Amino acid sequence: MIKHETIEKNIGLMILLIIIVISGGGLAEIVPLFFSTSTTKPIEGLRTYTPLEFEGRDIYIREGCNVCHTQMIRPFRAETERYGHFSTANEFVFEYPHLWGSKRTGPDLARVGGRYSDDWHRAHMYNPRDVVPESKMPSYPWLFENKLTGKDIVKKMEAQQALGVPFTNEQIAGAQDAVQGKYEIDALVAYLQALGKMHSEYTNKR
Ligand code: HEC
Repeated sequence: MIKHETIEKNIGLMILLIIIVISGGGLAEIVPLFFSTSTTKPIEGLRTYTPLEFEGRDIYIREGCNVCHTQMIRPFRAETERYGHFSTANEFVFEYPHLWGSKRTGPDLARVGGRYSDDWHRAHMYNPRDVVPESKMPSYPWLFENKLTGKDIVKKMEAQQALGVPFTNEQIAGAQDAVQGKYEIDALVAYLQALGKMHSEYTNKR
């Protein structure tokens, strides 16, 4: 048994013992993470985006919607009563990059899917003030003029596939045909309607 005095008077021994104690504490926290699947395993029934929704997501990023809107419901009562079940890590396993955001000028959109009709979204995107008079959200009229070509969609989906998103080869093969000729607004609305609807775990609890 080493006496406390011996340790205090021998700095080398003290450093060694400190390293042992800190490593023990560190390992106890770090090692279980390698075996925990709660953040890496998709939530039950999680599906991938359809090609149209996937294009819509890119338009959402291009237009910077994520600068004003979060997609992350925090576990507080005020949030869950307004937006639905709080967000969990396993909902985002197929999201590259995730669009959680950190600033809300507008409401959180993590579960906006199904809250409004497609027509409401179209009117709102064309000119938000037509449906929400006090809105300060910008208008996006060009989404109603620009058509999708689907030119890059195969490459984009393959890149996601390489990151681990389980798009099937059939989905990718048919992707360009699925989006070509559609308007950008169609893709964006399809994407918005999918938010929070990519699995059915929390929908009943909303
Ligand atoms: C400058 C900040 C800003 C930007 C950029 C922005 N929004 Fe908004 N958004 C708002 C505000 C503020 C509201 C609340 C008023 C309203 O409903 O218009 C809102 C509301 C919404 C709503 C209704 C949400 C709800 O639960 O009622 C949707 C859907 C939406 N925005 C989608 C988008 C999309 C898609 C984009 C990108 C094309 C976008 N927003 C860009 C500020 C913004």
